[in-house]
Amino acid sequence: LALESNPVALVLPTLACLFSTITGGRKSYNGYQVLRVNLTTTRAYNTINGIYLTNTFDFLTPPNRDNPTDLVVCPEQLLPLKGLFTTLRIPYEVAVPNLEKLIQPQEIEHETIENNLRRRQSDGAMNWNAYQKLSTIQNWMEAQAHDYPQFAQTENYGTSTEGRHLKVLKISTGGDGTKPAVWLDGGIHAREWISPATVSYIANELIKIAAEGESNENYKLVNSVDWYINPNLNPDGYEYTQTDRMWRKTRSGNSGFLASAFGCIGTDPNRNWEYQWGGKGTSNNPCSQIYRGTSAASEPEVKLTQDYVYARREQIKLFLTFHAYSQMIFTPWGYDDVPIDDKEELMLVARNAAKALQSVHNTEFQSGSSPELLYAAAGGSEDFAKGKAGIKFAYCYELRDTGKYGFILPPDQIIPSGEETFAAVKSMVGDVMAYY
Ligand code: ARG
Ligand code: ZN
Repeated sequence: LALESNPVALVLPTLACLFSTITGGRKSYNGYQVLRVNLTTTRAYNTINGIYLTNTFDFLTPPNRDNPTDLVVCPEQLLPLKGLFTTLRIPYEVAVPNLEKLIQPQEIEHETIENNLRRRQSDGAMNWNAYQKLSTIQNWMEAQAHDYPQFAQTENYGTSTEGRHLKVLKISTGGDGTKPAVWLDGGIHAREWISPATVSYIANELIKIAAEGESNENYKLVNSVDWYINPNLNPDGYEYTQTDRMWRKTRSGNSGFLASAFGCIGTDPNRNWEYQWGGKGTSNNPCSQIYRGTSAASEPEVKLTQDYVYARREQIKLFLTFHAYSQMIFTPWGYDDVPIDDKEELMLVARNAAKALQSVHNTEFQSGSSPELLYAAAGGSEDFAKGKAGIKFAYCYELRDTGKYGFILPPDQIIPSGEETFAAVKSMVGDVMAYY
């Protein structure tokens, strides 16, 4: 009961979690659980929200009354937290009994994650049967430009905090950058591994089409449109997920008492874009998973991408940013549940895409804005694309799944996700090009 009135009492066991060991070069999530709670009463909601606001728990969904709330709980937190739920009569279930078991997805295939990493490094070649390291993806992009100079090019448009390339693959059959263009980005959140995998899969499909030329039935997709594709918008974070699989943010340093006392690193790059920056669903606490940064576009990854997109805002007719998980297509606005003038047009394109997506593997995606379907969050990339760059058709995808595996989606779902998402993207391009 002391906990109920004082969520800070729960923070104490949490501190022990901060010291959980990194063994064999990777943080272990052994004994961690994902709990799913139903916050139907005001008392339940207020208490859990109080805990949420301490920033010491990794909430996979912010507390809300309409849908179950998932949170990651370290071993030290399990007993006090479950006790609190029981005391307050908050119904909960254990969604993931041991997170480490999921993080070793190859255990499903009777192989350890370490073996899988070793195999990836030795074969060097890109494939979509496994999740790939940043260097494999970026080397593959270079190889495409090298093999197909007539339509593929790479461009490094800057470097991340830790000095990694921000690299776009450009697919263009000519026209000096004056054709209508499509922007795709992935990996803005580090742990959402299906995003870079799916975005690079789509890039590969486009390259196959371009390589085949006129005889391919989809040739128009590459011949009448220029593509700008960055599968890894947050390269430092993505690399760091090899050490901590649940890492979300960038890897930039933070100053101030809280950050130094708890060693809190990184900014949420999808709360850092320069449109309605600092609003709902963001935090000014550098220890928070949704830390917005010191100012709009404080992160080099965001600032440089903003500039790149803004400079091409006349060409870019469709802006797509890929996250996971939830199986949703978001229209703007993400920053708040406010009306948008062209909602009907935006929804039509989204619904057609969801239909095309479902026709492939029968995967259901919902369409709507982020505040309508999930939560409000200011400083997101599609809001920048629409609000600042004036790109009419800007969307955010939440790819597979709906929480069974969450971020730890097994690698055998990469190709199905790629296939269905490519169908959605094709549908969007068709609709948007018909509009212009
Ligand atoms: N899961 C995404 C995030 O937390 C949703 C973003 C949707 N876009 C938005 N501007 N709210 O960043
Ligand atoms: Zn995300």
